[in-house]
Amino acid sequence: MTQATPFIVEMRDISKVYPNGVRANEHVNFAVRPREIHALVGENGAGKSTLMKILYGMERPSSGQIFVRGKPVSIHSPHEAIALGIGMVHQNFMLVPSFTIAENVVLGAEPARRRLLDYRAAVEITRQLSAQYGLEVDPEAPVEAVPVGMRQRVEILKALYRGADVLILDEPTAVLTPQETHELFAAIRQLVQSGKTVIFISHKLREVKAISDRVSVMRNARLVDTVNTAEVSEEQLARMMVGREVFLRVDKAPMRRGEPVLQVRDLEYVTEAGVEMLKGVSFNVYAGEILGVAGVEGNGQTELVEVIAGLRSAAAGQVRLCGVDITNAPPRRVRQAGVAHIPEDRLTNGVALSMSIAENLIVDRYERPPFTRGGLMQPAAVAEHAERLIDQFAIRAPDGDAPVASLSGGNMQKVVLARELSSSPKLLIAAQPTRGVDIGASEFIYEQLVRARDNGVAVLLVSADLSEVMSLADRIMVMKDGRITAVLDNTPDLTEEAIGYYMLGVKRMSAEEIAARA
Ligand SMILES: Nc1ncnc2c1ncn2[C@@H]1O[C@H](COP(=O)(O)OP(=O)(O)OP(=O)(O)O)[C@@H](O)[C@H]1O
Ligand SMILES: [Mg+2]
Repeated sequence: MTQATPFIVEMRDISKVYPNGVRANEHVNFAVRPREIHALVGENGAGKSTLMKILYGMERPSSGQIFVRGKPVSIHSPHEAIALGIGMVHQNFMLVPSFTIAENVVLGAEPARRRLLDYRAAVEITRQLSAQYGLEVDPEAPVEAVPVGMRQRVEILKALYRGADVLILDEPTAVLTPQETHELFAAIRQLVQSGKTVIFISHKLREVKAISDRVSVMRNARLVDTVNTAEVSEEQLARMMVGREVFLRVDKAPMRRGEPVLQVRDLEYVTEAGVEMLKGVSFNVYAGEILGVAGVEGNGQTELVEVIAGLRSAAAGQVRLCGVDITNAPPRRVRQAGVAHIPEDRLTNGVALSMSIAENLIVDRYERPPFTRGGLMQPAAVAEHAERLIDQFAIRAPDGDAPVASLSGGNMQKVVLARELSSSPKLLIAAQPTRGVDIGASEFIYEQLVRARDNGVAVLLVSADLSEVMSLADRIMVMKDGRITAVLDNTPDLTEEAIGYYMLGVKRMSAEEIAARA
C-alpha cells in the first residue's frame, strides 16, 4: 500500500549482522527527501557503506524495512535497485579499463541495432548526458587513459543512463584533487536542479558543510541524528561523530634539524608515453624536519615519491639515503635502507586483502626479531604487535586474525598507516596520509608525524590539502610542471595565497635561490 510521505527513500529500523558476527547497522532510521543533498558521515567502520549497500541491493538487511516513494520494497540486487531508480558510485570504481568511456556508460544496457552494439549511438548518448548534467567526459577515450576525476564522472553518467533518480556517492572526493572536487560539486548541484536526489558520504566536514542540505551522523553502527546542515558547525558534527572534542590543530616544538637524510639530485622521470614528469629535481630532507610538498596534483609529486620508493625508475639523477645510493633500487632494498612509505593509493599498493591484519602489519619485518627467532616464527609476538597497533590506531576489527578484506575502507587504510608509522624508519614518506580516514584518525596521524620528526626522522609529506601541509611542515617545497618552483620556510606569516602563486606558476624563485634553500 502506498502512503503519503515526504521521503523518496526511507530505511526503517535497519539492522545488519555480517556472517562473521560484526553488527554493522543497529536499528538505523534513515530518510531522504526528494531533491536534497543528504550527507552521511561517521567514523571509519561506523556502518555508512553497509547502509548504502543495503539500499543498493548489494547486502541484505538482517531486519528492518525499506520504502521507496512511500512503497515498501525488498531490494535483492543492484539490478532491482536500478529498477527503482537508485544508483550507486562506489569508491573503488567498477569500469572496464580497456573500453572507451561511451562503451562503459552503456555497458549492460546497450543500444543495439540488429543485436549488434551501436557504437555511434553509445557515443551520442554519452555526449548528450554529459552536456545535460555538466559532467565533462571524452566519450571515445579508453577509460584507462583518463584521469580519476573523469572516471568518476563516467560512473555517475552510467548510473544516470540507467535512470537513477537517487544517486549514492560513497566518498567520491577521497580520490579527487581540490579542483576536481569543485567540479564535482557543481555537477551535483546541477543534478539536484534537474530533479535528482543525492546521498553523499565524506569524511571532510568542510565539504559536507559546503554541499549538503541535511546531514545524518552514524556512530558505532547507529544513526545518531539527522540535522539541517546550516544549523550545525563543523565542530559540532565532529563531536557528534566521535563523541569528544577533536583538534586538528598541531602543536609543534621548535625544529631540531640534523644531518641530511634524503639527498635527491637532478632527478628525471619520463613516462612510458614519453612525457617528462620530473625535470631535474634536487633537494634534501634533513633529520628532524617535515618537508611538505605542495602543488596542484599531477605536477610530478606522485612520480617523485614513487621514484624514491623504488616503484618507478628514474631516467637520470640520483637518490641517496644517509649517503648510500638507492637510485632505482627495488622497493625491498629501499625499505631495508630505512625508508617507510605511506602510499597514496593504499588499497592497491598497501595491503594484501586476503591476508589477516596481523600478517599485513608485519609483511616488511616478519623475518626479524621479535617476530622470528632462531628461524622460527613467533606467533605470540605477531599477535601482540597486532593487538597494540589495532588499539593505538583505533582499527575497528574483531581481532588481528580478521582478513583485511572484511574491514571498512578507512580501516584498511589504517592498517597501512599503522605498519609504516611503526617501522622506525630514517625517512618517512607520507603521501596523502589522511585521505579516506576519519577525523579522529587524522588527528592521531598528525601527532605521529610530528612525533617521528621530534625523534629525528626525516619526514617527506605530500598532500593535496594545503592546510594540512601548512599545519605540519617546517619547510614547504612547491612543484609545478615537474620542477621545484619555490622552497619556503613555514613561518607564521606565510599565507596560502603566497604558496598559491608558486603552485599556479604565476611566480617562481630563481634557480640560485632554490638551490640555496632546497
Ligand atoms: N563484507 C564484510 N564482512 C564482514 N564485516 C564487514 C564487511 N564489510 C564491512 N564489515 C564491517 O562492518 C562494519 C561497518 O563497515 P562499513 O564499511 O559499513 O563502514 P564505513 O562507515 O563505510 O567506514 P569507512 O569510513 O571506513 O568506509 C566494520 O566494522 C566492518 O569491518
Ligand atoms: Mg565506507
